Amino acid sequence: MDSIYIYGGNYLRGETRIQGSKNAVLPILAASLLIRGTCVIKNCPRIADVYHMQNLLQELGCLVSWAGNTVTVNAFHVNDNRMNGESVTRMRSSVMLLGAMLGRLGEVTMAYPGGCVIGRRPIDIHLKALRKMGVEIEEQEQMFTAKAKELEGADLELPFPSVGATENVILASVTAKGTTVLRNAAKEPEIEALCGFLKEAGADIENKADGSLVIQGVEELHEAKYTVPADRIVAGTYLAAVLAAGGSVFLENAPAKQLEAMLAVAEEMGGCVTVNEEGIGIDVIHRLRAVPYLKTEVYPGFPTDLQSPLMAGLAVAQGQSLIEESIFENRFRIVGDLQRMGADIEIVKNKAYINGVDVLKGTEVEAEELRGGAALVVAGLAAEGKSIVKNRHFIERGYENICKDLRNLGADIGLG
Ligand code: EPZ
Repeated sequence: MDSIYIYGGNYLRGETRIQGSKNAVLPILAASLLIRGTCVIKNCPRIADVYHMQNLLQELGCLVSWAGNTVTVNAFHVNDNRMNGESVTRMRSSVMLLGAMLGRLGEVTMAYPGGCVIGRRPIDIHLKALRKMGVEIEEQEQMFTAKAKELEGADLELPFPSVGATENVILASVTAKGTTVLRNAAKEPEIEALCGFLKEAGADIENKADGSLVIQGVEELHEAKYTVPADRIVAGTYLAAVLAAGGSVFLENAPAKQLEAMLAVAEEMGGCVTVNEEGIGIDVIHRLRAVPYLKTEVYPGFPTDLQSPLMAGLAVAQGQSLIEESIFENRFRIVGDLQRMGADIEIVKNKAYINGVDVLKGTEVEAEELRGGAALVVAGLAAEGKSIVKNRHFIERGYENICKDLRNLGADIGLG
């Protein structure tokens, strides 16, 4: 069955190592298209979205191989500039191949990546920025063709610090003619990781004090090796799990500096947080306190990707919490399932009012997307009795070993 079962009520104890970052490795894999040679990417998580990106690269002519969590990509022969619709619409982050393909071949035909249950997820900001770099976009039905005789550096300002649009501009500009200045660029750690990989390959990228990026186009990039940083959202999800279930856990390799907003909330809720070079410790021995108000923001604010996992914890906290979701228009998808577990939550537009209850009841729930699915697992850990989270495949898009990790921490959890 494509599900996860959880018998809730166990404290979580022990330590677990945090996997490599999904949202860092996907643009880095796309960037490997720019290099006529071999790149070696270490600490790569074995998750569905990475396998999907691997298939896309192979469809374009690349050779991709694995050894443990190390992926080797040889993009010497990229012989196709068309990406088939199903492949692209299945995973939104395939849109990052747009900038890389323009940089490599100067042309790409692909499907619009499409939205998902959490929002429409348009790419207008991406296309507007690329047009300013000399890219012509011919829109067809579900597909579009982007081409540029020569990519030209440009002085750009994003209307919103879109992570994907920032990544596409970086990928298109590292071998463009001239200089690109990108203002109001996204500041998420995944941008820093992408720039780190590209600099290893010879790109000329400078982070200015005002947060803008200045990219001098270079003739050619060269082979590179890079180690993917730990996944801050997986680490934050596990912090939410300890907040919900209680216990004492150490998250090895968790990137504390990238989780300051989440750690502040964990402490506000009554968790005892310790941070050192090796990772993050969290002790939760009392019933959680509610969080009077929390708004999701772009980095370094509270991340939208941790909003659902945290909501699962707040469902059993003492008092009323208010979460305002400001990044995606439809990211309260798990509320119905939490209510069926006994949660007392009311949604008013983009605000969720959560009145903590003493206990949730295990039941059958359905994941509809990645982070919501992980949040339902978190809720199952806190619930009495058995929960079954169906559609496990959504969770496996981003979590390499969520069942194994939580079972090693004492949860009664397994594949259904
Ligand atoms: C990245 O998505 C992440 N995905 C998302 O994580 C994350 O939630 C998001 O950034 C915000 O941090 C990957 O990195 C693969 P955006 P992305 O462009 O790039 C609107 C997960 O669970 N927008 O910053 O798509 C958009 O609709 C995933 O790992 C436009 O309107 O995020 C959204 O409301 C989910 N026009 C907001 O901006 C555009 O052209 C943020 O989008 C682009 C975006």
